[in-house]
Amino acid sequence: MATFQKNIKRIGVFTSGGDAPGMNACVRAIVRTARARNIEVWGIEKGYAGMIENHIRPLEARDVANIIQRGGTILKTGRSAEFMKAEFRKIAAENLVANQIDALVCVGGDGSFHGAMALWREQQIPISGTPGTIDNDLFGTDLTIGFDTAVNTALEATDRIRDTANSHDRLFIVEVMGRNSGHIASYVGLSCGAEEVFTPEINTTVDKAVEKILSAEKKGKKSSIIITAEGQKPGRAYDLAEAIRKKTGLDAKVCILGHVQRGGSPTATDRIIAARMGSAAVDALLAGRCDIMIGIEKNEIVEVPFEMAIQRDKKSSLNYVKLSNLLAI
Ligand code: F6P
Repeated sequence: MATFQKNIKRIGVFTSGGDAPGMNACVRAIVRTARARNIEVWGIEKGYAGMIENHIRPLEARDVANIIQRGGTILKTGRSAEFMKAEFRKIAAENLVANQIDALVCVGGDGSFHGAMALWREQQIPISGTPGTIDNDLFGTDLTIGFDTAVNTALEATDRIRDTANSHDRLFIVEVMGRNSGHIASYVGLSCGAEEVFTPEINTTVDKAVEKILSAEKKGKKSSIIITAEGQKPGRAYDLAEAIRKKTGLDAKVCILGHVQRGGSPTATDRIIAARMGSAAVDALLAGRCDIMIGIEKNEIVEVPFEMAIQRDKKSSLNYVKLSNLLAI
């Protein structure tokens, strides 16, 4: 955490990285908290790209009406390769200064927080953040905004697959999102009663999975579901299906849920954490604290240095895979 002394009159807000359901609820909370405290708010479009291109406009309380229930982000988002270069961060900072923006709130994931840290350290723009990513891979918060909705979307789809898998006595491989992170996979795995869960963090081999499915078959199990994260070690879902087919002759059906998990109306949990985190992110800046992500741990708001949020491994929900395995006999 860092502290700064500045009389804040105007803050900027932006969403960055992959969109996540609840980002709008968070933007609403940021705008309305600031306006309630008589601070002006300007919205920056398309994340860091909009900062570089100067796509910045004032936001009033009414501009964020009727967005609490909407997925996506009204501010648009993106991943900016240019912002990784110091020369473009300088341009972004000059635009912020020209627009009289005294401090920023970033709603995003680990890549976005890397950028936020650089903006503070190189350009002394005070910035706080809220964790907006479906991946739940930020350290120092039990949940990230969008994770609960994504898990429930994936779970609903997997329950439907369970119906057809059961009717045909089939093996299904359901691929959920998470290039570098298995939190969605572990939550969905435990909550759908998966027979096996593959994540990027846990080394599960195809042999072990095959052994499990065959032994379950001997015990009378006729259909099975494997949940796999995008980034798991033996490869993507189709590679896994092919490896299983080669070893067993089983014709595993594949369903890749993909970006459907990123959209949709946020759950109550996501709206509530978005409101609490967004409001706290504004108040932290007004109290002169920056370089932090607002998290929620044990239902309490916490402030976590960006550096810690992006560097430390979050293991908590990965234990769910062990329980899922124990229950899948
Ligand atoms: O970080 C969120 C996430 O949805 C990951 O789970 C996924 O690997 C990645 O974004 C996909 O990114 P894109 O939408 O840019 O393909």
